[in-house]
Amino acid sequence: MRQDCVDRVLVLCADITIDVQRENRDLHRPRLDGAAIGRTHRFAPTPKHYLNVYRRGCMTINDEMRIAVFGLGHVGLPTALGLAELGWSVVGVDNDVDKANEIARGKPPFYEQGIEALLERHLDSGRFAVETDVALAMREANVLFVCVGTPQREDGAADLSMVEGVARTIASNLNGYKLIVEKSTTPVQTAQQIKRSILRYSDANNARSNAGGGELDFDVAVNPEFLREGVAVHDFFNPDRIVLGVETERARKILLGIYQPLLDRLGSTADATVVITDINTAEIIKHASNAFLATKISFANMVADLCEATGANIDDVTHGIGMDPRIGPRFLQAGIGYGGYCLPKDLRAFTWIAATHGVDFSLLKEVEHINERRVGQLISKVRQALWVVKGKTLAMWGLSFKPGTDDTREAPSLAVARCLLDEGAHLRLHDPEAMGEASREFRENAPVLTYCATPEEAADGAEAILVLTEWPEYLDVDLGRVRERMRVPLIVDGRNLLDPAAVREQGFEYYSIGRP
Ligand code: UDX
Repeated sequence: MRQDCVDRVLVLCADITIDVQRENRDLHRPRLDGAAIGRTHRFAPTPKHYLNVYRRGCMTINDEMRIAVFGLGHVGLPTALGLAELGWSVVGVDNDVDKANEIARGKPPFYEQGIEALLERHLDSGRFAVETDVALAMREANVLFVCVGTPQREDGAADLSMVEGVARTIASNLNGYKLIVEKSTTPVQTAQQIKRSILRYSDANNARSNAGGGELDFDVAVNPEFLREGVAVHDFFNPDRIVLGVETERARKILLGIYQPLLDRLGSTADATVVITDINTAEIIKHASNAFLATKISFANMVADLCEATGANIDDVTHGIGMDPRIGPRFLQAGIGYGGYCLPKDLRAFTWIAATHGVDFSLLKEVEHINERRVGQLISKVRQALWVVKGKTLAMWGLSFKPGTDDTREAPSLAVARCLLDEGAHLRLHDPEAMGEASREFRENAPVLTYCATPEEAADGAEAILVLTEWPEYLDVDLGRVRERMRVPLIVDGRNLLDPAAVREQGFEYYSIGRP
């Protein structure tokens, strides 16, 4: 066994009294459990010893930790491959057979930096495999990460039907100890519901099969993820914190063991990086984190409106307030608002769950209202700049909800496009990654809606360029040449990406958010 694996085992079971290294050193000192290692040979940990450590420290049932990740979306796939990279054997499970087969062939179902290479590496290493038989994967694994989607219901609540579906399937496949780790973003008390659901349905199963129904040996823990799309692989290996919501010592040890190799990589310790708390608190940490990020963005956008009305500069304002470490500089970028699969729905789900407990989250309702108004404000800015929108040809740079991803879910850019199409504008669209995704959103075609291969091509004959996603490649565009291709050199920058002075120097009319 490679030395680094041995070392990892050593660290993994840090809180187990046995310290193999110490054993190496102190071959002749009896172990705390009284048994002495053979006196004559040098200690060479074998898988059996490895297992011993687990049996004593972490696992009481199986001989080996087998991790399964259920749901291979934007949370599940980076998580599964991250764990494989840490040295664990991981089975990725998705009931979407086509998606699962694509992944098994090394093709990730979405664009995410570094994920294709990681997928290839661990399909080759054998540490990652794909399974579509959910029940089989559950029976074969003893640590089950639940990463299924929690989309939004009409009323703003989180739709937990897929989570419940997993819980019910687990109830029928409890063939020994299982640690169920909730990683999907869920409202508080969901893990409790998972536990109740497993107990309820396994009892029902046992009653039906008249089986004695031995002791149901499982734990439910919460380990929320904080991965950002576009940099999910980086975020997995560089977490600001790892949150573990646990109810038992066993669950705590297993999860600490699973993340120990990551702490080693970071040269960090559990004390510095891991928050250990109860399952409800862990769920609220996740929702509150996203809600606070959305609040920072809406705060910056709210102040940007005052800057616009008074001729002040939001960039300098957020720079100035961000220098106060109590505020911090990040997530104060004004623009057309936050989008994506997470912030909008998590904010609504958090507000909804609070209301069911009689807690008034009107602050977050206002955060959402400010965000919803951003698109309308940008449309007004375009109208002011163009006078009449109908019949105008407009270039749109950026369709994804943020740079670095092909994801267009709840992207403000698409809402802007929709409004402008409804006002009779002709749009020439460009995005480095999200054209495919965006094309699913629109039924219009050329000349009303044209998909362009380059930002320059999108500018052809345009009477304005709208910057709606701050892709860095737009900073490299030769604005002089673009101006020659346009009908009217006018830019409305909904992400404050470009430098106002430099753009105006190039002979453009330029409008941005909260900046003179
Ligand atoms: C978010 C959280 O950041 C992440 O921790 C969580 O796990 C999932 O949800 P993500 O959805 O990938 O991640 O997007 P994020 O990078 O947070 O951006 C969200 C939206 O806010 C984007 O539309 C972005 O353009 C916008 N945004 C972000 C701003 O408008 N201003 C900012 O300063 C930052």
